[in-house]
Amino acid sequence: MTKIAPSILSADFANLQHEIIDVENGGADYIHVDVMDGHFVPNITIGPLIVKAIRPVTKLPLDVHLMIEDPDKYIRDFAEAGADIITVHVEACRHLHRTVHAIKDAGVKAGIVINPATPVELIRPILSNVDLVLFMTVNPGFGGQSFIEEVLEKVELASLWRKELNLNFEIEVDGGVNQSTAKLCKKAGVDVLVAGSAIFNQKDRKEAIEIIRNA
Ligand code: DX5
Ligand code: ZN
Repeated sequence: MTKIAPSILSADFANLQHEIIDVENGGADYIHVDVMDGHFVPNITIGPLIVKAIRPVTKLPLDVHLMIEDPDKYIRDFAEAGADIITVHVEACRHLHRTVHAIKDAGVKAGIVINPATPVELIRPILSNVDLVLFMTVNPGFGGQSFIEEVLEKVELASLWRKELNLNFEIEVDGGVNQSTAKLCKKAGVDVLVAGSAIFNQKDRKEAIEIIRNA
């Protein structure tokens, strides 16, 4: 079954605890946490302090997506705050292999993420080292943007390589996921769908999660 990772970027931050409980009760599989630094992306969101604050609120894995420059500096902080998966942008890592192993050494699952315009060939040499590959289907920085369909060709290729190389990393997509784009993602081989606005902008989160999962 396709996993659903609601992105709290579109949640009501004044009621974050209740928002998280709501999507957990609605059947979410991960809680997706978008960390932005105002440098790697043109927006500033949350840091380890918030991850620490929400950790006791849910039993679900915290899927922490770092959209920050020099992520190596903050891996330990996010791991100690309670992240279960830390995902770093290949565009922000000068020594990606080292960073991936630093995440694992911190006792956390390691994910890598590529922007829509970054070639998928760039990640092939490191696939055997990672637990998750995240494909951005929007340019990172904001919720509520539209899905870039061309990214699915990269997803299909990664899914093929996973089979050929006999690996078992999860394939996740992030950005513009709704009922119709979720369908395309599932066909391309996606295991985890991140969705922000398509879940948190709906009154009934359980129904919103089911619609995306069953698309
Ligand atoms: C975008 C973030 C996403 C964002 C997705 O930079 O990484 O996780 O919250 O939002 P939607 O689902 O609204 O496109
Ligand atoms: Zn994200």
